[in-house]
Amino acid sequence: MGVSPAARVAVFASGSGTNLEALLTALETHPAAEIALVVSDRDRAFALERASRRGVATAIVTPDDWGAIIELLETHAIDWVVLAGYLRIIPPAVVQRYRGRMLNIHPALLPKFGGTGMYGERVHAAVLEAGESESGATVHLVDELYDHGPIVAQRRVKVQPDDTPQRLAARVLEVEHELLPEVVIAATEGRIRIEGDRAWITDE
Ligand code: GRF
Repeated sequence: MGVSPAARVAVFASGSGTNLEALLTALETHPAAEIALVVSDRDRAFALERASRRGVATAIVTPDDWGAIIELLETHAIDWVVLAGYLRIIPPAVVQRYRGRMLNIHPALLPKFGGTGMYGERVHAAVLEAGESESGATVHLVDELYDHGPIVAQRRVKVQPDDTPQRLAARVLEVEHELLPEVVIAATEGRIRIEGDRAWITDE
């Protein structure tokens, strides 16, 4: 049997791209996958700069060009799409095309603290406001609804008595940087199983 070619991953990011950076670093030494494209909806997203520094192709796609996304992904022969801080809803046609092959990372323990308007510090402020004793990060498969779809993996973070949204965000981000590469590597190695609305990672 020959060696399988590396799975080609596109990362969608609207912001700073620290999760993208963690993925780029993790995949550098991993043969199963490579980041082949970074897509943003904003030309000022620092994620684009991170991609360019590493010689990764970039594209800016605004809602006016939604129709172009599938063609773009096909041109770059993308196998998996990873949403890492992407602040737009993915058009249903793209969700359909990449069903079971599109992941999103969210900075809370879904299904709590997700949905429209739940992004950035608002998530962590809501967690503190609700008096939760723990929060964390979730990676899930993407479906047509925002922050919805089978959860693949979660990692917990304890809420501290003196937490502010900023402090909690920083600790959750640290675990995101471990969790996302682990899940993307498992995904591209074909180790994600999906049954109905459940998903999990196998060791095989
Ligand atoms: C992360 O907290 C991620 O969970 C959320 O958006 C944030 C992106 O952060 N979806 P970064 O741009 O990767 O630093």
